[in-house]
Amino acid sequence: MIKKFYITTPLYYVNASPHIGHSYTNIAADTLARSMRKSLGKDNVWFLTGTDEHGQKIQRAAEAIKLTPLEFSDGMVGKFKELWKSLNISYDDFIRTTEPRHVQTVQRVLEILYKKGDIYEDRYEGWYCTPCETFWIESQLIEGACPDCKRKVEKISETNYFFRLSKYQSWLMEHIRQNRNFIRPDSRCEEVSRFLELNALNDLCISRPIERLNWGIPLPFSPNHVTYVWFDALINYISAVGSFDESGRYQSKWWPADLHLIGKDILRQHAVYWPIMLRALDIALPKCVFAHGWWMINEDKMSKSNGNVVNPLEMVEKFGIDVYRYFLLRDVPFGLDGNFSEAAIIKRFNSDLANDLGNLVYRTLTMVEKYFQGQIPDVKIGVDNDQIKAIVESIGNLDKCVAKSLDEPNFSAALECIWKLIGLANKYVEETKPWNLAKENKIDELKQFIRVLVEVISAVDEALMPFMPQTATLIKEQVGDHEIKKGSPLFPRIETRPKS
Ligand code: ME8
Ligand code: MG
Repeated sequence: MIKKFYITTPLYYVNASPHIGHSYTNIAADTLARSMRKSLGKDNVWFLTGTDEHGQKIQRAAEAIKLTPLEFSDGMVGKFKELWKSLNISYDDFIRTTEPRHVQTVQRVLEILYKKGDIYEDRYEGWYCTPCETFWIESQLIEGACPDCKRKVEKISETNYFFRLSKYQSWLMEHIRQNRNFIRPDSRCEEVSRFLELNALNDLCISRPIERLNWGIPLPFSPNHVTYVWFDALINYISAVGSFDESGRYQSKWWPADLHLIGKDILRQHAVYWPIMLRALDIALPKCVFAHGWWMINEDKMSKSNGNVVNPLEMVEKFGIDVYRYFLLRDVPFGLDGNFSEAAIIKRFNSDLANDLGNLVYRTLTMVEKYFQGQIPDVKIGVDNDQIKAIVESIGNLDKCVAKSLDEPNFSAALECIWKLIGLANKYVEETKPWNLAKENKIDELKQFIRVLVEVISAVDEALMPFMPQTATLIKEQVGDHEIKKGSPLFPRIETRPKS
């Protein structure tokens, strides 16, 4: 059987424009998808992203500017798609939770679970946090407010439908114990395991009465309710790539997902609700849920409610797509939180991109121009000194080193593998002193020297493609096969003035 790779991102809420946090998940997913296309072939990779469009938040955002929720969502979807284009996000499919293919699947799921008795009607009394779309019982509140976002909660008493999470708790705990890679990184797996050990799951309220909320998917068995937005949204991962047959069996070419990439804010929904929903439907579980960390501004999570969001398009205009992609993937080990600042981007830019990568390419092309009239010398590398030996070895190991890190996935470690080779090559230039070889007319050695550098650049370029597709393409054009086309430096240093 041919290996396939199905990767997903969260479906982002359309109540606000995408910020750096959203772009982070999609850049990470894009890098993995591009890398897997290289190793499995492009027909064996499926990369899904999209938008989450139901629920109170969106209904209220639309009302505020006198649009219908769908009109409002249409406009926001445009913004998301425009951003993904600007960031070179190579998704294969974009799903909106308002599409018929999704709505039909959600209703089918509801019917199946209702018939099976895993969804039942009951009366609910308690507290509700609208921004989080979450129910809380009195004892969970902190100083009368939502324990997650600290905002005001609303008292609620109504008839609703519930999904039997509790019935599957011990099964889920066992599944997590048996599959140590199901929730990653390890710290998140620990977190979920501990949560399940310390808490008995309450059944999940999966409906909202239409008098309170009508912007949602109608429950097929109750005209007075729509579906809770989380129960609706999670189903996208299967509605986008398959459907139920007559007998209620789910059929899909891509399922199960190989990787659900998410932020740690939505771990519980993905690592508790979602596997239980799938189990109840008798559908295979995703191989892995990976929750990355948060981009922070000073001490706060970047988020619309914290009012500290940075627009990714602005960063792209200022620094370029690939500089932005590189910074996000390189600066913070995947899984941990990171602090976002322009000063940090500039620092990375000047050291890794201007000094290391840009310099290697530029100085190599300059020497090809100066010593060989722009023609790359056509010689074989003879491994006759330790330095060349180390470089050739490093070239040979590069793919494995990058692939191993991406398997975790650990993007910064993967980039470090590439930069280690760049570093070796730059050191080789400094120690070889090619200008002396030229002066002493040691043409064979000079040819060999250039050849080594060109091979390093080709290897680096190939490895960089998933991370920095535009830059990698540009380098390929400049270096060429035989004849170079030198352009201006790829990453001219950014001079910063010392603060007075
Ligand atoms: O939660 N740092 O949508 P959402 C890093 N619709 N990543 C961040 C981030 C930050 N500061 N802020 C947001 C929802 N993200 C639901 C998901 S899935 C079936 C439904 C990223 O618009 C990160 O991936 O609030 C996080 O999990 C996601 O955006 C939340 O997006
Ligand atoms: Mg959120």
